[in-house]
Amino acid sequence: MVKPDLTVIPKHVAIIMDGNGRWANQRGLPRTIGHTKGVEAVREAVKAAGEAGVEYLTLFAFSSENWSRPETEVTDLLGLMRRFIRRDLAELHRSNVRIRIIGDRRNLQGDLLPMLLEAEETTRANSGLTLVIAFNYGSRNEILRVIERLAVDVAAGLLRPEDIDAAMIDGRLDTAGIPDPDLIIRTSGEERLSNFLLWQAAYSEFLFIPDFWPDFDRQMFFDALKTYAARERRFGGLTTKPAAVAG
Ligand code: IPE
Ligand code: IPE
Ligand code: MG
Repeated sequence: MVKPDLTVIPKHVAIIMDGNGRWANQRGLPRTIGHTKGVEAVREAVKAAGEAGVEYLTLFAFSSENWSRPETEVTDLLGLMRRFIRRDLAELHRSNVRIRIIGDRRNLQGDLLPMLLEAEETTRANSGLTLVIAFNYGSRNEILRVIERLAVDVAAGLLRPEDIDAAMIDGRLDTAGIPDPDLIIRTSGEERLSNFLLWQAAYSEFLFIPDFWPDFDRQMFFDALKTYAARERRFGGLTTKPAAVAG
């Protein structure tokens, strides 16, 4: 497998890992097998991102709306999250990966929150890939929590409404300190954001690929980077690519 020669590596790639259930359905297997296979694809993506020199990889693991699934499926998904941290934390730490968790930390039951905090704490000083895990994450929930805190500051007289700017919001989001995603990939053929990084995706490039998440591999990751490298980002301005020289 040849690594693409990339001159434009996205600093931050975010992935909506979708299609585990359909992958399993297609094979006449229970959905939970699809989720288990999905964890293997997570490992592939983390390795590929590290190899490619991507600095931040955000993975949408569990949304604030996923609680509405049947209880058994929710239990399976939470169980997989636990197992992933338990089994992979040491290896991720050895690989110099730094873990960040985004999402609503309130109301997480039992050992989940302590485990997530431990993963962050253990890997805090690592200098390699930052793996951002979006867990119990929903963008509107995240933005609402920011608004709530700003409102408290305004009510306390610490802040004037007219002083609120974009940087203040950036700095209060769960993603504070993390650059906006350059590339957002969604697997499974669905073409929507499903409440993922709404604020942060203002100028992201989108890539929707038909494959289900359990089939995602290194080659697909590198292909995605290649597609990204050919995109032209303008940020509302004019072209940033050097004009082709005639002749
Ligand atoms: C993605 O696969 C995993 C999570 C959302 C947690 P799905 O479970 O959404 O699979 P489909 O979309 O039903 O195929
Ligand atoms: C988005 O996928 C959430 C995750 C990948 C964790 P969903 O499968 O929950 O999204 P919808 O319901 O199809 O929009
Ligand atoms: Mg889905």
